[in-house]
Amino acid sequence: MKPEELEALKERALKELSSAKNLADLEALRVKYLGKKGEITQALKSLKDLPLEEKKTVGAKLNELKEILEEFYKEKKNSLLLEEEDREEGIDLTLPGRKPERGALHPLTQTIEEICEIFTRLGFEVVTGPEVESDHYNFTALNIPEWHPARDMQATFYLKNGALLRTHTSPMQIRAMLERTPPLRIIAPGKVYRCDADVRHSPMFHQVEGLMIDDKTSFSDLKGILSFFAREIFGEKTKVRFRPSYFPFTEPSVEMDISCVICDGKGCRVCSQTGWLEILGAGMVHPEVLKAVNYDISKWQGFAFGLGVERIAMIKFGIDDIRLFFDNHLNFLESFK
Ligand code: DAH
Repeated sequence: MKPEELEALKERALKELSSAKNLADLEALRVKYLGKKGEITQALKSLKDLPLEEKKTVGAKLNELKEILEEFYKEKKNSLLLEEEDREEGIDLTLPGRKPERGALHPLTQTIEEICEIFTRLGFEVVTGPEVESDHYNFTALNIPEWHPARDMQATFYLKNGALLRTHTSPMQIRAMLERTPPLRIIAPGKVYRCDADVRHSPMFHQVEGLMIDDKTSFSDLKGILSFFAREIFGEKTKVRFRPSYFPFTEPSVEMDISCVICDGKGCRVCSQTGWLEILGAGMVHPEVLKAVNYDISKWQGFAFGLGVERIAMIKFGIDDIRLFFDNHLNFLESFK
């Protein structure tokens, strides 16, 4: 057998062995090449007719090839056996794999992140605090004493131990001021709770609280910063207006409206034909609140604001039912990818 013939035999045998589809095919190939009457065995037998020198070289090569084929055969047999087991268990390895589904951030998380990002650019620090709160932080320190009618404005969930679920993120104003020395700028996103449920209200919802205290912070800072925020989040063309309002912890107090994003201020169903959408409450921090944290009111002053994340997200994404945020329907959630 010439070296080229040997090489061709090797190639052919390996190719056939590797394409064996099952154990029966493989066995037939074993017989064909390595069996008693197989090609390799025959070739080895015919060595005896060769001259001595050739017998040595061709013999060595043939034996080497025999070993290679035997090894290959063993490996192929093992892998076919494994495949057969998988088939018996109902696993089809030839099926294409399933692509893992990519998730996405919840629309409320996206909104909170965007709000925090805008205020971070203005030097505000993001802080968080407990959802189980004391009466003192949630009400009293914010100038809402026990007899105050404002307590009824927020239907509170009380716990057996006298604590409560915070009804707003405003207690974070108190916590932030106690933990820091002025000047300070903080923004506090988080969950709040009120006993209330319909298309616009959920017993758990999200707010972002903001607070800026400095020696000269004025009402024009409030207007400037909140107008900037409105344009950043709703688009450059957004108009804002401030209406006088009342909150116990601010004086004076305002509510900020934006021009309706649906009708551009012309009047539609969403803005109840007014052309405006209310998006937040704000005001100059009441001296009583500063006193509650022992800040010197002759030196420090500032403004605070609070906004509802669901409301902002509903306006931004054009959603008319707050419950969609919490139903966890994949169709809804996937549309925010
Ligand atoms: N805490 C108020 C609420 O939940 C919102 C609010 C209004 C927060 C005015 C403020 C503010 O910081 O200055 O209704």
